[in-house]
Amino acid sequence: MIFGSPEQVRVRDAELSDAAAVLKMLNELDQETRFMMLEPGERALDVARFAGWLADLRLREDCYLVAVRAGEVLGFTHAERGLYRRNRHSANVVMGLLPQARGQGLGTKFLREIDLWAKRFSVTRLELTVMAHNTAAIRLYAKHGYAAEGVRRASLIVDGEPVDELVMAKILGTSNES
Ligand SMILES: CC(C)(COP(=O)(O)OP(=O)(O)OC[C@H]1O[C@@H](n2cnc3c(N)ncnc32)[C@H](O)[C@@H]1OP(=O)(O)O)[C@@H](O)C(=O)NCCC(=O)NCCS
Repeated sequence: MIFGSPEQVRVRDAELSDAAAVLKMLNELDQETRFMMLEPGERALDVARFAGWLADLRLREDCYLVAVRAGEVLGFTHAERGLYRRNRHSANVVMGLLPQARGQGLGTKFLREIDLWAKRFSVTRLELTVMAHNTAAIRLYAKHGYAAEGVRRASLIVDGEPVDELVMAKILGTSNES
């Protein structure tokens, strides 16, 4: 799954050799945005361990994509299926882009690629949680057929304040597929 010419941002599967660059990007995202789960400094930055986790993810045929320009990882998306027969059809989606990579259609590209991965592996439900005030992300997901299913009230504490999360999901194989 590769898009674009070398000078453009490319979206592709993460390789084990990307582990250090991906961790660097995740660490930057943790510092820059309060819309992701981890606070600055909370992430384990052990490259070998992260590469091992990526290898396990590959074995399970789950999805981890990166957006890369000139060797720099600018963002990621990750879709991880349930582990059991009864929830193997359902995957949890997470994504994040560094500020310089936003507003250029990469979030859209990520979601399209996740749809393709889902079809390939018979995943029929894609779900996520998003902070209820994260308007940009909610618009992106809604535009791609994710519908709000409910609110997880005060499910996070951000900067000492309770924050609600919206649960959103997309069911594949129906007419609202995009
Ligand atoms: C949310 C995020 C992934 C969006 O990715 P993106 O590549 O900037 O989105 P796109 O360029 O593909 O935009 C697609 C749509 O999303 C919505 N959107 C994107 N940025 C927006 C913004 N700043 N304000 C309002 N809507 C926005 C719009 O509906 C847009 O469609 P349009 O361009 O036709 O108006 C990105 O902003 C990001 O990584 N933010 C920080 C981390 C984060 O919030 N992650 C999600 C956690 S659940």
